[in-house]
Amino acid sequence: MHPYVLAVTGASAQPLAERALQFLLQRGRAVHLVLSHGAHEVFRAEQGLSIPVDPLKQREFWRDRLAVESGELTCHRWNNQAACIASGSFRTRAMVIVPCSMGTVGRIHAGIAADLIERCADVHLKERRPLVIAPREMPFNLIHLRNLTGLAEAGATIAAPIPAWYTRPDSLQEMVDFLVVRLFDGLEDDLAPLNRWNGPLE
Ligand SMILES: Cc1cc2nc3c(=O)[nH]c(=O)nc-3n(C[C@H](O)[C@H](O)[C@H](O)COP(=O)(O)O)c2cc1C
Repeated sequence: MHPYVLAVTGASAQPLAERALQFLLQRGRAVHLVLSHGAHEVFRAEQGLSIPVDPLKQREFWRDRLAVESGELTCHRWNNQAACIASGSFRTRAMVIVPCSMGTVGRIHAGIAADLIERCADVHLKERRPLVIAPREMPFNLIHLRNLTGLAEAGATIAAPIPAWYTRPDSLQEMVDFLVVRLFDGLEDDLAPLNRWNGPLE
């Protein structure tokens, strides 16, 4: 199985990214992880977390924080355009951007590949590989909506992390897990058991 690219940008839903990374590694998947510069800022602002920029130190950081030894993790700097995942010749299974800021949405839609996340998304679209985008903003303005529509037309899946209550969640963590597992449903990868809708309870 080819590796996933997991990209995290500076939007306000980073616990989703952390949980996705944890599930993927627990399931033994190979993951190439890229945090944008904005993602580092938001991790610091919202969670008081200073995440190492150096790829090897960052890998250690995630292994410790998520307490998972399985799977394969490669971290990349946001501006490393020479990274393997910047090239279409490097095979990947899919790219998931969670959460995806409106800035990144706009730049990908405009074809501006200024950092590694944008370049890698560009590659997934041109190679016709799955690109799942989990946008986070509220409310959306018309520019956001047009950019998201354009990305859907170009082949991306727009999977906004919108919660559901039919699972009767008891905690925020359950809600997070639901959103993360649903992101990967379209890639036919069951990341964790899920309380799915099976019709009304008797
Ligand atoms: C605490 C915090 C929360 C933010 N939340 C969002 C958000 O939910 N959605 C969004 O589009 N931008 C959000 N931003 C703004 C982006 O981080 C900013 O536009 C950044 O330049 C995006 O860069 P990136 O797309 O390269 O990560 C937030 C910024 C901060 C500091």
